[in-house]
Amino acid sequence: MHVNRVRFWVLSFLLFVYLAGVLILSAITFQDSKTKPVKPKSQHLQISKLKHYELGFSGFRPPLRRSKINWCSELKFLDPPRSLIALASFPGSGNTWVRYLLQQATGILTGSVYKDYGLLKNGFPAENVVNGSVLLVKTHEFGPNAKKIFSKAILLVRSPTAAIQAEFNRQSGGHIGFASPARYKRNKDWEQFVSDKLQIWKRTNLDWLYNFTGPTHVVFYEQLVDNLESNLRSILKFLEFPVSEPLFKCAMERKEGIYRRKKRAIIFDPYSQKMKDAIKAEQERVYNAIYNFAAPTKR
Ligand SMILES: *[C@@H]1O[C@H](CO)[C@@H](O)[C@H](O)[C@H]1NC(C)=O
Ligand SMILES: *[C@@H]1O[C@H](CO)[C@@H](O)[C@H](O)[C@H]1NC(C)=O
Repeated sequence: MHVNRVRFWVLSFLLFVYLAGVLILSAITFQDSKTKPVKPKSQHLQISKLKHYELGFSGFRPPLRRSKINWCSELKFLDPPRSLIALASFPGSGNTWVRYLLQQATGILTGSVYKDYGLLKNGFPAENVVNGSVLLVKTHEFGPNAKKIFSKAILLVRSPTAAIQAEFNRQSGGHIGFASPARYKRNKDWEQFVSDKLQIWKRTNLDWLYNFTGPTHVVFYEQLVDNLESNLRSILKFLEFPVSEPLFKCAMERKEGIYRRKKRAIIFDPYSQKMKDAIKAEQERVYNAIYNFAAPTKR
């Protein structure tokens, strides 16, 4: 009897301490959230659930905490609207950065066949708009249904080595995270992932290249990085969008904008020799197919 009573008081005391602690902590958190414009934690949770949230090209992402991108001019819809242009790519190939650069250089909104809330709230308010009022429409899809709504396409191609790793990081490490070395070492997952994604990388690029009947402009991500100005100008020319020099200059100055390239020293190479051989073979096949279309712009 006596022991039970002692236990009762001890438990009551612990419960009291626990509740007091919870109250104090939530008061502190509440104050915190008033001082910060956005509560990063809750946004992380919200965003990490989204299927299509992607890492852009392994690193350039709109920041989650800071609220606004400084646009060179106020973003608008195209007026009058025109026919749909695709920005087609395998995931992890830099499409978010290309959309960002184009919105800077033109002041026109870009759309997407997905609805990525992270992007919607951070600089891409026309995410999920698929109509002629946007400059172009992001898609990672391929096959007849994915292509038929478009009259022209920009095909953004990045080396499969980098794109597959970016995609693996996105899927394992969340939207801004990185996959831990342990994830790669669970060899079977990674091996399967590489072989599956390599096939999708090939099919995405070849399907758009061979089966899309409209004019197609191929952009190599690596060349875009190396020579941004001339590549961006040729994209605008393909879009038949008149270049405004002050806007273009502004876009160049803000080419990285508030996007941060997250670098992480990779102390090990996640690709085995067997994977490298497979990647090399498919990459050569796709790049040869691209180069065999006389100029980067076919038709
Ligand atoms: C495209 O969608 C946007 C947003 O819903 C809308 O404001 C615009 O009028 C639409 N444009 C066309 C051509 O339907
Ligand atoms: C082109 O389309 C056909 C029919 O949908 C498909 O069987 C073929 O695999 C496609 N070609 C490529 C290179 O994806």
